[in-house]
Amino acid sequence: MRAVDLIYKKRLGLELSPPEIDYLISGYTRGEIPDYQMAAFLMAVCWRGMTRAETFALTDAMVRSGRQLDLSAFGAVADKHSTGGVGDKVSLVVVPLVAALGVPVAKMSGRGLGHTGGTLDKLESFPGLRVELSEREFLEQLGRIGLVIAGQSPELAPADGKVYALRDATATVDSIPLIAASIMSKKLAAGAPVIVLDVKVGSGAFMRRRTEADRLARLLVDIGRTAGRKVQAVLTDMNQPLGWAVGNALEVKEAILTLRGEGPADLVEVCVEIAGRMLFLAGRYPDLQAARRAVRAVLAEGAALGKLADLVAAQGGDPALVWEPDRLPTAPVRRTVAARQPGYITRLDARAVGEAAVRLGAGRSKKGDPVDHRVGFIFHRKRGDWVSPGEPLFEVHARTESEAEAGAAAVLDALVIGERRPPARPAVLGTVEAGPGEA
Ligand code: URA
Repeated sequence: MRAVDLIYKKRLGLELSPPEIDYLISGYTRGEIPDYQMAAFLMAVCWRGMTRAETFALTDAMVRSGRQLDLSAFGAVADKHSTGGVGDKVSLVVVPLVAALGVPVAKMSGRGLGHTGGTLDKLESFPGLRVELSEREFLEQLGRIGLVIAGQSPELAPADGKVYALRDATATVDSIPLIAASIMSKKLAAGAPVIVLDVKVGSGAFMRRRTEADRLARLLVDIGRTAGRKVQAVLTDMNQPLGWAVGNALEVKEAILTLRGEGPADLVEVCVEIAGRMLFLAGRYPDLQAARRAVRAVLAEGAALGKLADLVAAQGGDPALVWEPDRLPTAPVRRTVAARQPGYITRLDARAVGEAAVRLGAGRSKKGDPVDHRVGFIFHRKRGDWVSPGEPLFEVHARTESEAEAGAAAVLDALVIGERRPPARPAVLGTVEAGPGEA
C-alpha cells in the first residue's frame, strides 16, 4: 500500500477499505506518513466526504492508536461531551449532579480554543486545582468519590491529537466525518459505557445549521451504539451564550448558583436534559421522566454541591470556595453597561461574545496561551427580554479600563435591540436517541 494511492482514491471520491484507513492512521501516528500526505488526505475527505463504513473505520483506527481505559470495575459509569460553545458550564453542573444521584462520572475534558470555552480552564479557577491526572489517579478518584474531571490523557486516541493539530493548521476541521471520528475515538477510548453528547447548534457552535447538527448527532450516536455503548445526543441552542456568565471563574460561580437551585432557566433546562439522560441510560431510573424529576429535586435542594466540593478537594483545590463562591478570583475592573434605548433584545450573538471574552483574556487564540480566570461578561438581559433606558444590559469584568471599554463595545455590537419581541426559542432543540431495547 502507498499513501499517495489512497489519497488519490479519496480524491476521486471512492470508498477506502478499513485496512486502507488503518494503514494511513497507524502510519501517521508512528511518524511514517508525513504531515503533507495526511493533510492532502484530510482535504480530500473535506471535499469528498466519507461513507458510514469509512467513518467507523477511521474512529476504530484512532481508538486503536493508543490505550483504552477499562472502567468495568466501576459499573455503569457515565460520560458526557459537548461540541463546544460560549458560556457552556454544563459539565460543572451535570457531573456532580449525576454523581450525587449514585451514577459514577468519569470525564476527560478539553481547554478553550478559539471563541469557545473549555471545562479545564474553568475548573482551574479554583486556585491549586489539578486537571492533569495520571491514569492511576483518575481511576482511584473515580472509585473513591464517584466523579472525576481531568485532561485528555495523551495515551488515549493519540492519533486524534496529532490529526486534530494538523486539521487546525490546514483548514480541515469542519468536516462531519472527521469531527465525528475525532470526538467518538476519545469517548470510546475513555471507556464509559454511557455517553450523552451535547451537540451545539448556532452562531457560536461548530455546526451553525440545524441540518448539519442533526447529521453530526446521528453519526455520533450511530458510532457509539455500534461500538456497544449506550449513547444519546441532545441538540442545544448556541445562537446566544448559555446562562448569564461567560468567562472562567464567572462561569464556575454560575455553576455553583445552579447547583444551589438558583441557576438561569436555559442552563437548567440543558443540565436537566443531559443529566436526566445520563441517569436513565445508566439504568438508575426506569424512565426519563423519573430521572428528570430526580435531577430537579437535587437542584432545588442543593444536594449536589457537596459532590462538587469533593471533586475540588480531591484535585487539590479549596472546597470551601464551593460554599463561598464570592471568594473565587475576581477582576480588578468591573463595569456595568446600561441600555440607551428601550426595546426587546432580539439577538445576542454567541460567537461575537465568545471572541470578545477571548480578547479580554478569558480564552486563548493558540494552544498553550495562558488564560485569565477572572475576566468575562455577566448578562442581565438576553434574547426576548425587555430593557428600558438606563437598565443594565451586561457587566464587563476586565483587567484594565481600556480592555473593559473594548469588551463593552464588542458586546454592544453583538447585541440587537428591536421593537418586537422575537419568538421564544427553547434551549433544548431536539434529541437523537438510541434504538428500542438499547436504552
Ligand atoms: N471536538 C473534537 O474533539 N474534535 C473535533 O474535530 C471537533 C470538536
